[in-house]
Amino acid sequence: MTFQFELINWYRANKRDLPWRHTTDAYTIWLSEIILQQTRVEQGLPYFISFLSNFPTVNDFANATEAKVLKLWQGLGYYSRGRNMHATAQIVMNNYNGVFPTLHDDLIKLKGVGEYTAAAISSFSSGEARAVVDGNVFRVLARFYGIDTPINSPEGKRQFFKLANELLYKEDSALYNQAIMEFGAIQCKPKSPDCGSCPLRINCFAYNNNAVNQLPVKLAK
Ligand code: ADE
Repeated sequence: MTFQFELINWYRANKRDLPWRHTTDAYTIWLSEIILQQTRVEQGLPYFISFLSNFPTVNDFANATEAKVLKLWQGLGYYSRGRNMHATAQIVMNNYNGVFPTLHDDLIKLKGVGEYTAAAISSFSSGEARAVVDGNVFRVLARFYGIDTPINSPEGKRQFFKLANELLYKEDSALYNQAIMEFGAIQCKPKSPDCGSCPLRINCFAYNNNAVNQLPVKLAK
């Protein structure tokens, strides 16, 4: 079986039930992705629920006071994320008639939305064929394919981005993107990955070459 289908099968059997995986609403997905940018799922989950109940629509978010947004953000850190979200909600109201964009090329122009977040929102909301590349994806690809180019070098970024997009299962980019990130988060973990129970280990470079703890390579800056 291919890498993609092994990942998707693993995901179907092992995924966590997370609320933002039950929607294709771009606004809701944007909320979850910005909250999770520098925050673990367990910590971000109550904030996601609170933001969505306080601001069910992008219009509610845009009309809130900045003080209210920052109050709800309290405890998450990186307050610029909260401020950027407020500005973005207002831009969506003014420039997109309140309809949250779903296409990568629109999303990437929004404040606080970078390559990863634009790929995540566009694939999860509209199925656009964009591969997500986050820390989980770097780790899974580096280990499975035995790539030792530093992930934070320009050459590494280019190489991993290219491979990630070649591997993307375009018929269901949302499913595949969720699968590879979840696999990195709970199976192919940074420390003590669970190789003993891993369905991909037979073809995994790192597992077969005793290099799991050496990959991925990251340059000290
Ligand atoms: N971290 C960032 N985005 C995520 C997502 N969609 N699911 C789980 N963890 C995430």
